[in-house]
Amino acid sequence: MKIAILPGDGIGPEIVEQAVRVLGALDLKFETETALVGGAAYEAHGHPLPDGTLKLAQAADAILFGAVGDWKYDKLERALRPEQAILGLRKHLALFANFRPALCYEQLTHASSLKPELVAGLDILIIRELTGDIYFGQPRGRRRAVDGHFPGAEEAFDTMRYSRPEIERISHVAFQAARKRSKKVTSVDKANVLETFQFWKDVVSEVHAQYPDVELEHMYVDNAAMQLVRAPKNFDVVVTGNMFGDILSDEAAMLTGSIGMLPSASLDKAGKGLYEPSHGSAPDIAGKGVANPLATILSAAMMLRFSLDQPAAADRIEHAVKAVLAAGLRTADIWSEGTTKVGTREMGDAVVAAVAGKTIATKTKS
Ligand code: IPM
Ligand code: MG
Repeated sequence: MKIAILPGDGIGPEIVEQAVRVLGALDLKFETETALVGGAAYEAHGHPLPDGTLKLAQAADAILFGAVGDWKYDKLERALRPEQAILGLRKHLALFANFRPALCYEQLTHASSLKPELVAGLDILIIRELTGDIYFGQPRGRRRAVDGHFPGAEEAFDTMRYSRPEIERISHVAFQAARKRSKKVTSVDKANVLETFQFWKDVVSEVHAQYPDVELEHMYVDNAAMQLVRAPKNFDVVVTGNMFGDILSDEAAMLTGSIGMLPSASLDKAGKGLYEPSHGSAPDIAGKGVANPLATILSAAMMLRFSLDQPAAADRIEHAVKAVLAAGLRTADIWSEGTTKVGTREMGDAVVAAVAGKTIATKTKS
């Protein structure tokens, strides 16, 4: 099993380090190779996704990715910005199916900004289409307007588009995922305004005919944003396009207490994947040793389950994370009165110990 390790920028290296230590605590043989990506790669090689990094990712069985981005690169031309690294990997590796589970751990019910009874037991799976939509649609750019409200003025534009096969394959992914859960899919669109999403809705409905055992509900994205904070437990599998999925998955993440808890998997049609925390590079806290490594550690568990066919090892990591939370250990983002605040490395130590079956030392009072 060959894993490409791409730590990236900001807190990326420190959280990925902990996930790699956790993987090392399992009795499995991995070959790992690390490469620069994002701003770090730009500094060293003049490009956020150098050839060597892309080739390594293509050759590996799975990719563990940290985060990319820093405000200091905001002035660079778009093609050289750190975000292009992750967008490029998604595109070149055809990672069209993005799984973003939003799971509220029992011990973190009170860390959510919503009332505990609204989020207790929450378990949503957002499936975001990841290689199409307005993110990748052409043409895009800046030009002089020839029509519109201000002919002759400078304007910018992007193109929202989806083809039938793109919608079909992500629909199949969603219905098949729903079969392993509570057999309900909510497809989120904006069919009341956008041609692209009327088409989306039509195609999802057509594919649904092959899954009569799964319930399908359609919801406009504005309503979905509202329902997510009103009654999140009414959702199970949510399937949507690239941009709506970007926005709704951040919203769903906060329901669980902290975006620092959420892993993600981005898969191609063969199940090869890139695994990364749903959060970003958080340059404001980088290097301080306070970032929450759990989202990345849980991403490593998803990698074992989805790409490396090691479900038992994935279970061990997930149980270890629960044990660590039950022992009262918390990084700053999920800390509350009565629990023990720990740094990135101590959190990693605790998960490593729990994976190895050792009890976790804690100073917790409650
Ligand atoms: C995400 C991120 C990325 C996206 C950025 C970093 C390009 O927000 O993975 O959700 O917009 O997809
Ligand atoms: Mg995002």
